[in-house]
Amino acid sequence: MIPLVKVAMAPKEKIMPALEDVLYSGMLAEGEYVYRFEDAFKSHFKIEGTVLGMSSGTAALHTALLLAGVQAGDEVITTSMTAEPTNLSILYVGAKPVFADVIDTSGNISVDSIESHITNKTKAILVVHYAGYPVELEKISKIARKYNIPLIEDCAHALGSEYGGKTIGNYGDYAIYSLQAIKHMTTVDGGILVIKNPEQVTAAKKIRWFGMEKGVDRTKVDITSPGFKYNMSNVTGAIGLVQLDYIDSIINIHKSNGRYYDAQLKDVSGVTTGSFDCEASPSYWLYTLVSEDWEDIQKKLTEKGVMASKLHRPNHYHTIFTYPENKLPGLDSFYGNLLHIPCGWWVTEEQREMIVETIARG
Ligand SMILES: Cc1ncc(COP(=O)(O)O)c(C=O)c1O
Repeated sequence: MIPLVKVAMAPKEKIMPALEDVLYSGMLAEGEYVYRFEDAFKSHFKIEGTVLGMSSGTAALHTALLLAGVQAGDEVITTSMTAEPTNLSILYVGAKPVFADVIDTSGNISVDSIESHITNKTKAILVVHYAGYPVELEKISKIARKYNIPLIEDCAHALGSEYGGKTIGNYGDYAIYSLQAIKHMTTVDGGILVIKNPEQVTAAKKIRWFGMEKGVDRTKVDITSPGFKYNMSNVTGAIGLVQLDYIDSIINIHKSNGRYYDAQLKDVSGVTTGSFDCEASPSYWLYTLVSEDWEDIQKKLTEKGVMASKLHRPNHYHTIFTYPENKLPGLDSFYGNLLHIPCGWWVTEEQREMIVETIARG
């Protein structure tokens, strides 16, 4: 089967010596490899702001919400069309996820729906560049500024995406990336937190390490509010440093396959390709198709050995996120007709041609 997602690991001859080096360095916990990786990640992806290595994308989201000052009883405007950690992190701080509707051809949060859900309880707007397709960042950041509400970008699916010529993650007050197993880039597990306000960096570092300041004598250090065990290890940092050498070629194939599908499928009747505005350059973690015939397409692709699926479950389908006011017609339409098809670095030119042919013939 051609899978929908696949682990991308740098060649053994590069990874193994790097691992051996760090494993016997005598320094396994957070240290120089992490700090070197943070610097390299920041310059590689042209990130404006401070880049912090975290234990996971979820840890980065939780920390971003804490730094944004979101507290129990507050509301965060977010999307249900995402992986569950996006919205679980809102529950971690005791706040309520308020689900804005999504665009029915991309699954991305709708600008108008965000604005219509703002109340005096709204303490953050959390957007997800779903499947690697950027949200309308210019308009959304304008709304965030208008109401003076922090904007958090969940870029877990979208490493390598750009908006308005800038790396996504550069529009929000905070951004997170996931380095979990099946993302564009993995460090086995891990995450990145981007913080714009330099005055919050010390607080962020304390949150990631039990509430303690690194470098202060452990017998004298003082915890004034609880932090977490959210730091990245040197082993993770060392893997990240090697993975960065290969990430451009991986992202470029995702983009090349995604653009190929965009061009080849745009005139196929009964099929709509994932939409994005002219400022967006997606990194196509998954390729999005919308079609009333999605089940037939899925069946035909399966017969040809191609995995295709919806992959996610809208979060408000879970009991824990069921609120009586959830009315999301855009999401109902999108999810009802959604099918993701493989477009990652492992999909060859012959395979993508076969996939297009299979869809077009159907
Ligand atoms: C959209 C989204 N946000 C957040 C996360 C959480 O990332 P992690 O698995 O690194 O904690 C994931 C991935 O699992 C995700 O897909």
